[in-house]
Amino acid sequence: MSRILNSIVAVCPDMGIGKNGNLPWHPIRLSNEFKHFQKMTMTPLVEGKKNVVLMGRKTWFSIPAANRPLKNRINIVLSRELKTAPEGAHYLASDFSSALHLLDSSELEKQVDQVWIIGGSALYKEVMESSGPRRLFVTRVLKQFDCDTFIPDININKYKLLPEFPGVPTGLQEENGVQYVFEVYESTDH
Ligand SMILES: NC(=O)c1ccc[n+]([C@@H]2O[C@H](COP(=O)([O-])OP(=O)(O)OC[C@H]3O[C@@H](n4cnc5c(N)ncnc54)[C@H](OP(=O)(O)O)[C@@H]3O)[C@@H](O)[C@H]2O)c1
Repeated sequence: MSRILNSIVAVCPDMGIGKNGNLPWHPIRLSNEFKHFQKMTMTPLVEGKKNVVLMGRKTWFSIPAANRPLKNRINIVLSRELKTAPEGAHYLASDFSSALHLLDSSELEKQVDQVWIIGGSALYKEVMESSGPRRLFVTRVLKQFDCDTFIPDININKYKLLPEFPGVPTGLQEENGVQYVFEVYESTDH
């Protein structure tokens, strides 16, 4: 089955997404941006089903322990090294295709609605370069912070920017002196 793979990411102008295992703007909090992440990833389109969040091991451990697993979502952690899912995570997958196969297993198939890739860099890159229908929900943070983790530029030969998307605010946003805009891209190469 060809599921839409949704990725959601907040990036600095240089495509930086992280610094020292945290968000680049830490300790500044972008609470409304985080609420947007929560709303998009948590809200299934089909009542009674749940969305899945797929993430790399470091992203899992970057979430404060008290907030793990991300509530009301099926949390799948990717790791080549771990032998069992970290405490609180629902599933462990050893690579991206095993994670997607897991979604089609008899245990999960009927429960799962949307699939959200929530980082980090290798996973975003793999999805951005994969085939099949994909969407990128990108928060363009307009201020540059120091970063040590990056994603590739969005390839305009593979993605188009949508003029609007249901539930995604348009226009300039600002919190704590940091401006940002929400963008949604859809793949055009499938
Ligand atoms: N700005 C944003 O929207 C955003 C979103 C997410 C994360 N972040 C930031 O990004 C940083 C964390 O991201 P990161 O890129 O450094 O690490 P990451 O992708 O979260 O974790 C890397 C680890 O995940 C596992 N992994 C990744 N891809 C895999 C694959 N295809 N198959 C199997 N295992 C895989 C490996 O674990 P093993 O080593 O255990 O094999 C790898 O070492 C933090 O600073 C975080 O705050 C920012």
